[in-house]
Amino acid sequence: MPQENQNLEGPDPAVTLAQAAGLAEHLQRVGVQWLPAADPDSVTALAEQLRSAADGAPERSSEQASAPPAVSPPTVQPAVVQPAVVQPAVVQPVAAGPPAVAAGTVQPSTAGPASGFSLQGDSADPAEPYPGPSLVPDARAAELARFSEQVAACTRCEILSQCRTKTVFGEGNVAPRVVFFGEGPGRDEDLSGRPFVGKAGQLLTKMIQACKFAREDVYIMNTVKCRPPNNRNPEPTEIENCREFFQAQFGILRPEYIVCLGLVSAQALLCTKLSVGRLRGKFHQYFDSKVLVTYHPSYLLRNPAAKKAAWDDLQLMLRDAGLM
Ligand code: URA
Repeated sequence: MPQENQNLEGPDPAVTLAQAAGLAEHLQRVGVQWLPAADPDSVTALAEQLRSAADGAPERSSEQASAPPAVSPPTVQPAVVQPAVVQPAVVQPVAAGPPAVAAGTVQPSTAGPASGFSLQGDSADPAEPYPGPSLVPDARAAELARFSEQVAACTRCEILSQCRTKTVFGEGNVAPRVVFFGEGPGRDEDLSGRPFVGKAGQLLTKMIQACKFAREDVYIMNTVKCRPPNNRNPEPTEIENCREFFQAQFGILRPEYIVCLGLVSAQALLCTKLSVGRLRGKFHQYFDSKVLVTYHPSYLLRNPAAKKAAWDDLQLMLRDAGLM
């Protein structure tokens, strides 16, 4: 007699849940990013379903015993696996295709930082996958820390480097699914050295949470790393001076999505002069990343009526990512 299918009552729900939790922890430890936290109500409901299925199940034949339990599968979002050292796959064709303008031409800065990690290969083309290997999370963190130190010592912009209190490099998950890309530090950010911590930052945090992310799930950074005096827009030369830094950040982070917050970041990343109104509502491309342009939280604070459009933009991303 074959010895399989001795357990005619099916798997023990408690064991199944414990194993699932263990697997989830393991996946997160080895670098699977953005595994969503389980919703406690759904966990309880699922446990109930499993329990009643196990309790009420008639004795099962050996064929039935190997079939899946008669409960509807839990609607858990698939985890996103960031390949550790493998080049990420090229993104699927995006709705709008590559921008009509020459997007993100990689221009080596004449006074670039002495970095070992460089995106500035002559052949780097933002319609292609990110050049070079994708780094494991620890190596990403180390590279970002190295660039952050270079930014802190940077004096390329005479005015900004003299006016700043702290440089604001960026923060968050080093293997993020989404990067939120702002303009430049304001007063609160200049004082704290952290991006988006003032009023606009509070709104951005709410926008991130509306997407069912936490701030820690995503990465937040700016186009320029020093506060322009009186919160004026950064000058084109200041943006170019910082280009190598934000390009390097994206080359390390390789997010699936980049959300450009406002005109400055969108025009800088996509190398375009088009307005937010023209750029929003569709995907653009920057290497492997799909780029979404939406309104800056500061603009939304001044024009609350535009919040609906901003939420539409974020929903475009969430739908595309299979998150709603
Ligand atoms: N506005 C930005 O663009 N970035 C910040 O970090 C804060 C406000």
